[in-house]
Amino acid sequence: MKITKFHREHVVEAAALFVENYRRQRQIVPVLPGLMAEVVPVAERLTRLLDVSSGVVAVENGRLLGYLAWYLVPNFRDTPRRGAYVPEWGHATVDDGKTAIYRALYRAAAGQWAAAGCQVHAITLLAHDQEAERAWFWHGFGLTVLDAVRPVRPLNTLPQTALHIRQATVEDAAALTALDAEHWQHYSQPPILMTARTGLNEAGNIAFLSRRKNSVWLACDGEHLAGFIRCDGYDFDGVAIVESDRTAAITGAYVRPAYRGQRAAPAMLDAALRHYESLGFTCCALNFESFNPEATLFWLNYFEPVCHSVLRVPEA
Ligand SMILES: CC(C)(COP(=O)(O)OP(=O)(O)OC[C@H]1O[C@@H](n2cnc3c(N)ncnc32)[C@H](O)[C@@H]1OP(=O)(O)O)[C@@H](O)C(=O)NCCC(=O)NCCS
Repeated sequence: MKITKFHREHVVEAAALFVENYRRQRQIVPVLPGLMAEVVPVAERLTRLLDVSSGVVAVENGRLLGYLAWYLVPNFRDTPRRGAYVPEWGHATVDDGKTAIYRALYRAAAGQWAAAGCQVHAITLLAHDQEAERAWFWHGFGLTVLDAVRPVRPLNTLPQTALHIRQATVEDAAALTALDAEHWQHYSQPPILMTARTGLNEAGNIAFLSRRKNSVWLACDGEHLAGFIRCDGYDFDGVAIVESDRTAAITGAYVRPAYRGQRAAPAMLDAALRHYESLGFTCCALNFESFNPEATLFWLNYFEPVCHSVLRVPEA
């Protein structure tokens, strides 16, 4: 096995390796869109990646055994660190010798990442691929983000909550902005400890709520807002495999601590799913940090993981 630079001539064979692996993920989770199950769109993405970045391939007797291609990301995950990030379609191997192929690819890539000043290495894996997960775990990587999906159908049991559930309008923008600011504080608290971030301001929320395929669902205790779920019908803020014009993404969910455990979030989720079903959507997608205990406890009741993003912060 020889490791060399990823050239354009490898793109179609590389895309075919990814498509074969993605086909297995779709067998387990059929609601996943079919776009990335075709060689051409994957090859197009790889070509665009190679225009701006780089990769390595493993070859034996003229046959492509695997590939690894990445973006360099300044301020990775809003930290001061420069990162190397391998998307889910940016790598794949043949089945035989997967662990050894990834080891050789990572050794070569890590050399280039170190030379480029990367202080964090990250890769997104298809959730079904346990051998790949084990290989990257042994390279020193740990779980960080899960991308998950579910069909756009109401929940099996209608959630019972005493709170009033309704869709937000632009009139709610100011109250929603305040609630979202509270929501973002959750992520800088232990054990999550993410860098401090902020949500949309009031004008941003008005613009968001004004677009037809977006929606925000509110749980109300009289006039008082207890929680919200935000759904985006345009930008998925997640992995490429979930993208389609019939995917709606949940990009925010928050219930004030005093109202937790009262089924406010499932009731808002159910309302959102009914709404998007009526608009002809089929797939609902979201992502969350694995080290956010509330998110993990909640979403895994309703969504099936399709990607595991893992990262490593090298000591030197
Ligand atoms: C995730 C979240 C929206 C769930 O909202 P919720 O309305 O409390 O949802 P539920 O009522 O279904 O309760 C969720 C789980 O918390 C448990 N719970 C019960 N009382 C609770 C309380 N006082 N505090 C926290 N969780 C409680 C519930 O029993 C339930 O577990 P179960 O499904 O195993 O029974 C909410 O915990 C939250 O806002 N977390 C902080 C923000 C966040 O992490 N958002 C996710 C973004 S990715």
